[in-house]
Amino acid sequence: MPAVSFQGVAKTYRGARGTLRALDGVSFDIEEGEFFGLLGPNGAGKTTLISILAGLAQATEGRVTVMGHDVRADYTSARRALGIVPQELVFDPFFSVRESLRIQSGYFGVKHNDAWIDELLAGLGLADKANANMRQLSGGMKRRVLVAQALVHKPPVIVLDEPTAGVDVELRQTLWHFIAQLNRQGHAVLLTTHYLEEAEALCWRIAMLKAGKVVALDRTAKLLSAAQGQMLRFKTDDALPPTLAPLARVTGRMAQIPTKDAAGVETVLAQLRQAGVRVEDLEIGRADLEDVFLSIMQGAAGPGTAQEVAA
Ligand SMILES: Nc1ncnc2c1ncn2[C@@H]1O[C@H](COP(=O)(O)OP(=O)(O)O)[C@@H](O)[C@H]1O
Ligand SMILES: [Mg+2]
Repeated sequence: MPAVSFQGVAKTYRGARGTLRALDGVSFDIEEGEFFGLLGPNGAGKTTLISILAGLAQATEGRVTVMGHDVRADYTSARRALGIVPQELVFDPFFSVRESLRIQSGYFGVKHNDAWIDELLAGLGLADKANANMRQLSGGMKRRVLVAQALVHKPPVIVLDEPTAGVDVELRQTLWHFIAQLNRQGHAVLLTTHYLEEAEALCWRIAMLKAGKVVALDRTAKLLSAAQGQMLRFKTDDALPPTLAPLARVTGRMAQIPTKDAAGVETVLAQLRQAGVRVEDLEIGRADLEDVFLSIMQGAAGPGTAQEVAA
């Protein structure tokens, strides 16, 4: 039995401007104990898929199960098998950290949970914040509490929706250490992220979502081996010539240009020289998961977000 099964899931939002097909026939399974990554640009439909999994939104078509329980017909059992860390920070400002974890335990019918709550607090670096009021906590600390809240009932399936967006390095490390430990103990993990190096390091398999469709799904190592070719990385203060600019990924002074092979590298270097671009710290390396991701996202037809369809 898969931990999670998405079968032909579609979701259509109706609005003033027409209908939006946010998910369009998504099917895949996550195995028990698996660490699974769901990647995709903003608007691809990741949060919508997780909302349907969590029973917060209803699929227009298709079926979703968690540990064999249908999220619609058997909501309570499905929800109990899930620990969901939402993308948005939502919390009740009136309670202390410990109180909010006790309330959440009660919500799942778990009694006498303080031993596990203490473990969660310690594992997430929250031990000294147990009695602090939620509204006194920094954003990063609130994020940790959300993770603890999702785990109070020791769910077999843990879902994290962009848990490290905008959080500091220390929290990312604390969080991954803790989640990896839970995964080793047998919990399945579904992670959405746009930090590809995280997905590369943690996930056994990765699905890439674009405009509501799965455009790639494979073992992480397999996806990476598809990243043949060479990546040119260098720093420059000059503008790239029009032949190269559309291919390049530029972050500040850093430019990266993908090439197919050694001859491609020579062509790019010749074009840079011809355009008078001064290059520093030139490196030529293998493509990584981000390169695979970008080439799939550019290759699969259409823009990264769902299309508005005239009503
Ligand atoms: N409640 C909603 N009503 C209408 N459109 C929505 C709603 N939620 C999401 N969308 C749209 O659905 C698409 C997918 O969004 P989302 O699932 O949040 O993507 P992601 O999490 O991958 O960034 C986007 O175009 C978004 O604007
Ligand atoms: Mg999202």
